[in-house]
Amino acid sequence: MDSDGPEEGSVPPRSGIVCHPGRERRAARAHHPGALDGAGRAGARRPGGGGSSGDPLVDRTEQGLHIERLIAEGGMGAVYAARRTATGEPVALKVLRRVHAGDPGIASRFAREVRLARRIDHPNVCPVLGEGRLEDGRPFFLMPLFRGVTLGEEVRRSGPLPLRRALALADQILAGLAAMHAARVVHRDLQPGNVLLVDAPSGAGEAAPTVKLIDLGFAHEPGADTGDGVTPGSPGSLVGTLRFMSPEQAMRSRAITERSDLFAAALLIYYALSGKLPFRGRGDLDVLVAIVRSSPVPLRRERRDVPRVLDEVLTRALSKHPDHRFAGAAAMRDALAAVRA
Ligand SMILES: Nc1ncnc2c1ncn2[C@@H]1O[C@H](COP(=O)(O)OP(=O)(O)O)[C@@H](O)[C@H]1O
Ligand SMILES: [Mg+2]
Repeated sequence: MDSDGPEEGSVPPRSGIVCHPGRERRAARAHHPGALDGAGRAGARRPGGGGSSGDPLVDRTEQGLHIERLIAEGGMGAVYAARRTATGEPVALKVLRRVHAGDPGIASRFAREVRLARRIDHPNVCPVLGEGRLEDGRPFFLMPLFRGVTLGEEVRRSGPLPLRRALALADQILAGLAAMHAARVVHRDLQPGNVLLVDAPSGAGEAAPTVKLIDLGFAHEPGADTGDGVTPGSPGSLVGTLRFMSPEQAMRSRAITERSDLFAAALLIYYALSGKLPFRGRGDLDVLVAIVRSSPVPLRRERRDVPRVLDEVLTRALSKHPDHRFAGAAAMRDALAAVRA
């Protein structure tokens, strides 16, 4: 079932699912099965130039904001570029999609996203600047509007990253994750579309971009049973992005904890360095089976310039049993610092 073929091994950056070559779709974020389509999260779209025309929010002014354009639309929410009318400050506005406005489960998840994000104050985690309701009643929250691309877009555009750059980004991802975990938040959906790489200011030369972890739409508090597969016995469906799930998330065999995020962080690093994932298969189900059963394909098989010790760090973080991974994001970050030294 495992395959070395580039097609099976390559990942569409903003999703976990390959439907057909060249087509991508958002992965299963099926929390409320009736509310989302059969594949879980419906197709995310990123409008090209002018693609947002016809969107009723674009060009509207309300709640002290002028909404300028749609940045991306996922299964549950949409993100817009906007400006505060009083100051002209650019902001990003995330709003619950209209189709989900009446669903109390999705609305409470959105409220949880805001509440958990507000707890974290760290340069590598996207902050919440404010929240409110649009005139049509839908909740929204505001973030700084960052210029840059997601990790997925970067790899898709430029291919695997140079080692030093990838390690610099990994360091920031783990720093943000450590802060998140210290605030008792498990992200649960770390994947390339949820890692923003913010452009270094002009004049900074080849400086690595600043990482901002985004999208706490599936985050939860460790130990708290939110009824969506967080603890082994809790009901609900798969939550997260299929190809970036830890074994316990895929199987719901154990609680989803901080160490589930470490597994996903290792997948992100592997992906940044190879454009591939270490667990392979023809489709998402095959990949999930590989996540649960197979050994990871060593990164050094994809890239000879990767030090052996980096493979060892990744292999440890990709242990099937959470107890065999690093104790926390800080410990994994330290191990990676030794690779950089
Ligand atoms: N603060 C921001 N600044 C700029 N772009 C953003 C910001 N937040 C999100 N985005 C863009 O919007 C996309 C969707 O945001 P995200 O929070 O991941 O929503 P979803 O829950 O739909 O996945 C991201 O992949 C990113 O491209
Ligand atoms: Mg997202």
